[in-house]
Amino acid sequence: MGKIVIAIDGYSGCGKSSTAKAVARDLGYTYIDSGAMYRAATLHFLNRHLSPTNPKDVKSGLQDLEITFQPNPDSGQQETYLNGLNVEKEIRSMRVSERVSDFAKVKEIREELVAQQQRLGRKKGVVMDGRDIGSVVFPDAELKVFMTADLDTRAFRRQQELIERGELVDLEDIKANLGQRDEIDSNRKESPLMKVADAVEIDTSNLTFAEQVAQIVHLAEQRIKQTEDYASNHR
Ligand code: CDP
Ligand code: CDP
Repeated sequence: MGKIVIAIDGYSGCGKSSTAKAVARDLGYTYIDSGAMYRAATLHFLNRHLSPTNPKDVKSGLQDLEITFQPNPDSGQQETYLNGLNVEKEIRSMRVSERVSDFAKVKEIREELVAQQQRLGRKKGVVMDGRDIGSVVFPDAELKVFMTADLDTRAFRRQQELIERGELVDLEDIKANLGQRDEIDSNRKESPLMKVADAVEIDTSNLTFAEQVAQIVHLAEQRIKQTEDYASNHR
């Protein structure tokens, strides 16, 4: 069966990564969490006390930044490694969430991570989620989805996730963080978050998780079929 690239973009906490993971599992595709890469890069810079606004700091931080994904031996879920260390839990902390958008604004950091993401997806059969996947990383993706949900719903979902990880954070603080990141991500100069013209918009505020996964799998199956039909007509 032909393989396609599925790009899922949208605001924080609307369900992109958990949905992308489930879609990848259903289709037998690889899931790539581009946000985890920006989070891991942020942790790397913070641990080294490097500033996103100092070009020398940015250059030096990028010199020894290695981000990889490896499956957890028990759950099979991909986990993020920074220079060989498992940072899956640490990159989701509020310490990183509070700073990640400042680092994700930096052109040189984006160029490095986008190049890595393009390498990871070059064989197709990938579902990647982020902010600029349909616009910059894979502008030719066969399926582009733009996910949204209202801020209260997104903050509540994120709070539940943090509780499950043992971090109790006030709902208002989460709302402030999501709102602030949406603002920075949407208005930055370098590849801002936006809905591209050929993306299908899905508002998940009133959908169940299973419904939104089924919608995207259905769209993907249609696109896979169209790609195969096109290929057989042009042989
Ligand atoms: O999970 P959540 O939606 O909160 O965020 P994420 O996908 O883990 O991304 C964290 C941050 O990384 C975002 O707020 C963006 O600032 C940045 N990011 C980006 O700029 N471009 C991407 N393709 C993915 C993430
Ligand atoms: O990647 P993004 O920040 O857009 O969202 P996420 O990290 O997937 O977090 C969304 C959370 O909301 C996850 O815990 C999902 O299980 C949950 N959720 C959802 O995504 N969609 C629903 N309809 C209901 C809950």
